[in-house]
Amino acid sequence: MPFACPSFLRFTGVENNRMSEKLSNRHRLFDYPADRVLVAPSVLACDWTHFGDEVQAVASAGAEVLHLDVMDGHFVPNISFGMDVVKSVRGLSDQVFDVHLMITDPRKYIPRFVAAGADHITFHVEVWDDVDELIDLIHAQGCTAGLSLRPATPIDAVLPFLPKLDMLLVMTVEPGFGGQSFHGEQLSRILKFRQFIDQAGRDIRLEVDGGIAEDTASLVRSCGANVLVAGSSVFRAKGDYRNAIDCLR
Ligand code: DX5
Ligand code: ZN
Repeated sequence: MPFACPSFLRFTGVENNRMSEKLSNRHRLFDYPADRVLVAPSVLACDWTHFGDEVQAVASAGAEVLHLDVMDGHFVPNISFGMDVVKSVRGLSDQVFDVHLMITDPRKYIPRFVAAGADHITFHVEVWDDVDELIDLIHAQGCTAGLSLRPATPIDAVLPFLPKLDMLLVMTVEPGFGGQSFHGEQLSRILKFRQFIDQAGRDIRLEVDGGIAEDTASLVRSCGANVLVAGSSVFRAKGDYRNAIDCLR
């Protein structure tokens, strides 16, 4: 079995601690309790002329997770950044580095993002036939694994993988660009995913991504989301970052 931490052990007190020692420090997503809402600023919206400062600023402002959107110009019509950019700020923050791969060939790059400092890697169900294989690869590299789906992709596409996943990422905009409006019709899907996760009986984090601001954060939280990605509403907030982050919880 490629993943060193059996899911049935991971969530029980003593065993959890024991397994944490064996695992690399990369499994820090589960350092936070499941009932805590985590905020994950997306650097896509940061001031890139001060990238390192921006990362440190959201970490100091209380964001537990840093969301890193990787786009290849194929899976989505936009290009963002690669491994070297992730690596450049790894030493500046102890946040959970949450790499969201919007690329057509995740298998090729997963090890390189792990080497760059990723703690968690999410890929898209639409790009890969053997989803199990990639989840196993991410686990074998010592990271937590996530699966995402576009707004129009049927829910059924990801359900078979719940027994292995650490996080499910529901896109609440069409992937590719920051600053888009939240798709309200995704709320019912988030609610369904929450029900499926609860039925699965595992601590699978439910992350939402796209158009998350104070108002939509409240909606998605009420539907069971517990990891909130936010680009524009944090990095382009009128007030300070701490206030913007606190407003989302
Ligand atoms: C979109 C990205 C998002 C994006 C969110 O493809 O996955 O993470 O940066 O940006 P906002 O919060 O501005 O909608
Ligand atoms: Zn994202």
